[in-house]
Amino acid sequence: MANNNLHDAKAAKKDEFYTCIEDISNELRHYRDFFRGKSVLCNCDDPYESNFFKFFALNFNSWGLRRLVATCYDGSPVAGSELRLPFDDYPKPVRLRTAYKIVITEVPDLNGDGATDMADVDMLIRNRANVLTRLNGNGDFRSPECVAMLREADVVVTNPPFSLFREYLAQLIKYDK
Ligand SMILES: C[S@@+](CC[C@H](N)C(=O)[O-])C[C@H]1O[C@@H](n2cnc3c(N)ncnc32)[C@H](O)[C@@H]1O
Repeated sequence: MANNNLHDAKAAKKDEFYTCIEDISNELRHYRDFFRGKSVLCNCDDPYESNFFKFFALNFNSWGLRRLVATCYDGSPVAGSELRLPFDDYPKPVRLRTAYKIVITEVPDLNGDGATDMADVDMLIRNRANVLTRLNGNGDFRSPECVAMLREADVVVTNPPFSLFREYLAQLIKYDK
């Protein structure tokens, strides 16, 4: 029993390992041309925590992406803890565990500083309806609404929970991603 608890804790800790933006950049820059015109899904990625989301949002225009979708799993103990979300108006129990998705189809220079960066993404989230919306379920990559997003995506890029790696990969193969 105690041993099981230790294994569970180890798996949970690994599941919350976040990828450095330098590693993402060093790998993905080799595929830049491939991404032009593509719809990208990051389906294990709280947009406020994930450097995958950050990387694609920052390069949305220069890489010519068509669409960027990121979904947040509400089982994450750190979800939404970094920045305040528009959902902060919800009552506390809902706010603490919220699965949501972010859908980006443009990154305009909203603050007019001559560059498109995370400040513009933040303004986009705050000012445009439907950029950040709550999911019906818990954001599990296997849930029907997340599978529907997977089917629509051209390419999926993430670092999934290690404890579910086999299931994650099997699903990608099943949907030919
Ligand atoms: C290894 S972390 C990587 C996070 C992010 N993709 C990155 O690379 O920085 C895996 C993420 O998957 C989330 N997660 C765990 N189980 C999940 C599930 N069933 N469906 C979707 N996401 C899940 C965790 O909360 C965690 O944020």
